Amino acid sequence: MKQKLKKITGAKHALAVSNGSAAIMAALAASGIGTGDEVICPPFTYIATIEAVLMLGGLPVFAEIDETLCLSAAGIEKAITPKTKAVCLVHMCGGNADMDGLMAVVKKHNLILVEDAGQAFAASYKGTATGLFGQAGAYSFDFFKIATAGEGGIFVTNDEATYKLADSFCDHGHDHIGNNRGMENHPVIGFNYRISELHAAVGAAQTRKVPYIRENNLRIKKQMQQVLSKVEGVSFAKLGDDNGDSGTFLNILMPDTETAKRTVDEMNAAGVGGFNYWFTNMYHFINQWEHIKNLKTASKLAIQVLGAPQDYNNLDIPKTQEVVGRLISFGIRCTWTNEEVNALAEKIAACATKAMKPVNA
Ligand SMILES: Cc1ncc(COP(=O)(O)O)c(C=O)c1O
Repeated sequence: MKQKLKKITGAKHALAVSNGSAAIMAALAASGIGTGDEVICPPFTYIATIEAVLMLGGLPVFAEIDETLCLSAAGIEKAITPKTKAVCLVHMCGGNADMDGLMAVVKKHNLILVEDAGQAFAASYKGTATGLFGQAGAYSFDFFKIATAGEGGIFVTNDEATYKLADSFCDHGHDHIGNNRGMENHPVIGFNYRISELHAAVGAAQTRKVPYIRENNLRIKKQMQQVLSKVEGVSFAKLGDDNGDSGTFLNILMPDTETAKRTVDEMNAAGVGGFNYWFTNMYHFINQWEHIKNLKTASKLAIQVLGAPQDYNNLDIPKTQEVVGRLISFGIRCTWTNEEVNALAEKIAACATKAMKPVNA
């Protein structure tokens, strides 16, 4: 599984683990993120990103995203404090962030970059795979991703020392030297984030199909965009690099939140499925993260002892609210026929047109 992923991404080191959440945890831990470290995170991500920071004792600092659906360079710059140690960038909805702008800020402030590319395996920016810009990166192979292992994840890095640390961290600290597991040394304290061989076998078979899936997804996405771009007011999420899209999502931006909500209502009424309206989604957007905002935990975490670095209930993130409010994402299936794609695109276009009317009237 990891060999096949290395071939696609060009990563020097990869480690298959139990899931994408474990992979991002390993990426943060092996990059040295721990107790009391402020980590700049997006308020629009799968919740695992934030959980991983918190479980390691880190303190999430939420910053603004932009139309790439990822943290923006300006957003990061504004959120930096003397305690900022790292940025945990998330490449959302199959796309890629504006890496040139972002890397300039990361370098200027001497920050550690960790990339959660959980949704962006097979995406890239100017020829470099998402996940490989910082010290370490992570991909998810759960049932919803471009390649699935049933459950699985992959940690990647180009740095050997970071890889060795992750390799031990994900297997109870074992150094994996020699051929007698019971006699191995333990350079660090770790935990069990191993993937099972059964899951890895499925992951390997699925990873082989990724170039084919991506090619078809991109063709389908283009076809749908052609139909939808005829609807006045409809636009699409931006990509840091148009050539590096993984093609897993069609990300539609409506003119405003109210129109997006009406479009969702129209699509529900018309029986159109397969889309996410993240603005009201319980797992992907901070507006619904009551347990995180109010630090509800099973046992005491570092953040409760050290204090949250921001007032999570009163964040100043207007750009993020605007972008996520306007966003409707469709998961693309590479098996759709031309007829199915056109029929779906026409249905979405009709719903969007209808939803737009009260604004134009
Ligand atoms: C951005 C992101 N990070 C992390 C994860 C967690 O991956 P997993 O479900 O494999 O634990 C996901 C899964 O949806 C994700 O989308």
